[in-house]
Amino acid sequence: MAKGKDTVFYCKECGYESPKWAGQCPACHEWNTLVEAPASSVQKRAGLSGGIRQPGPGLKNTGFREARSCTLTEIEFRQEERYVTGIEEFDRVLGGGIIRDGLILVGGDPGIGKSTLLTQVCKALSDQGIRVLYISGEESLSQIKLRANRLGSFTEQMKLLCETDLDVIEGILQKEQPQVCIIDSIQTMYRPDVPSAPGSSAQVRESTNLLMQWAKVLGIAIFVVGHVTKEGVVAGPRMLEHMVDTVLYFEGDSRASYRILRGVKNRFGSTNEIGVFEMRSSGLEQVPNPSEYMLNGRPVNSSGSVVTCTIEGTRPILAEIQALVARTGLNNPRRSATGLDFNRLNLLVAVLEKRLGLRMSECDAYVNIAGGMRISETAPDLAVIIALASGYLDYVVPADVMAVGEVGLSGEVRNVNQMENRVKEAVKMGFVRCIVPASSLKLLKSFGDVRLLGVSNVTEAIELLRKMQK
Ligand code: TYD
Ligand code: MG
Repeated sequence: MAKGKDTVFYCKECGYESPKWAGQCPACHEWNTLVEAPASSVQKRAGLSGGIRQPGPGLKNTGFREARSCTLTEIEFRQEERYVTGIEEFDRVLGGGIIRDGLILVGGDPGIGKSTLLTQVCKALSDQGIRVLYISGEESLSQIKLRANRLGSFTEQMKLLCETDLDVIEGILQKEQPQVCIIDSIQTMYRPDVPSAPGSSAQVRESTNLLMQWAKVLGIAIFVVGHVTKEGVVAGPRMLEHMVDTVLYFEGDSRASYRILRGVKNRFGSTNEIGVFEMRSSGLEQVPNPSEYMLNGRPVNSSGSVVTCTIEGTRPILAEIQALVARTGLNNPRRSATGLDFNRLNLLVAVLEKRLGLRMSECDAYVNIAGGMRISETAPDLAVIIALASGYLDYVVPADVMAVGEVGLSGEVRNVNQMENRVKEAVKMGFVRCIVPASSLKLLKSFGDVRLLGVSNVTEAIELLRKMQK
């Protein structure tokens, strides 16, 4: 492609833009990620370019050149208006509903339930009389109808369209003026003026750019579905995340039925919230009590299993940590962590070896969080240690015991945040003994019948476990 003013180079990984090519991206330092693409032609489009930037107060909208800066007091503040779907787990993740001109990316593995979730959102909105348009580039109208039939009946406010050409879509949006629009998926959409295939980085980037303009200019809330690649990022390039207002990930093990909707970025609210759903034959069902759901089917009287409490966003959720420790003849014993950081597992195994003298180097160790949950904080360390030791020593952790605490390299057990909420959740779910860091005891008030067992290091924790064996 000939170089000219109309092309730029941008990094496929981080979205960095540069007028000239370089072997290494100056922003993210990845090699060979700069690719050439036409400079965004969005602003050249007639009809949309004028309205995207608001002139300062007291100025007519005479074009970009006459803009002037303004003070904070000159700006009229208006409360963001939102559409509330009534699906509480969904509204909460968005910070209280859908912003009326927001562009929201919904990412997730294929088959996880993105289309189902958004069809249900469409149903909830159209039932309230809000005009929605569901544009699919992946499925035929009859396929969409098949899904919709499982989810219930829809009103006339719900419109469907199978289209991938964004020029055609622009015409429809202007004509029909929906209030909420779903684009399923961004990888199938294309702009005829961008000379590369749908799904390519350039198309995805330019299409998203255009959708952002439409959302703001036409005042439509647009949801964009994005498939996650093997590396776990939407559309390969992370740049898509920079371009939208809100990024939601729909996660879960496609074999397990529970799903978590997680806010990763939100310009209009906190990213601390999650929504929990269960996939049923009639669509996604909200799970208001995730702890109960996670602990369902827990084994009794089996070694290597203990319950911990993690904080997801602002919610405490109980989860079962399972460990299998088996003797191995391999020089390099196997380690596997599902739902947990692999390096953290290695660290905790080393703590067991060094501080407790367990010969973990002769054993394979597998740790799993039941129910397909993922935990990224350090609070379950103590439970992982107890589960591993219980698996190694063949001790059973009684079913009414919950453990939570961070474990340091010297084997010390440290306090973690929101201890009170974690213990409260355990009490709510009927646990009567909580193994907690000794340092947290004075901070914790008494919680009814629960016994708080403080430990200051892993040796004390395992001693406690030994005493629990009859
Ligand atoms: P889908 O929403 O098509 O996933 P995505 O858009 O993320 O690719 O849903 C995929 C799975 O969900 C599919 O395997 C069937 C299942 N499913 C149910 O179990 N119950 C339902 O009511 C629906 C609509 C789908
Ligand atoms: Mg889909």
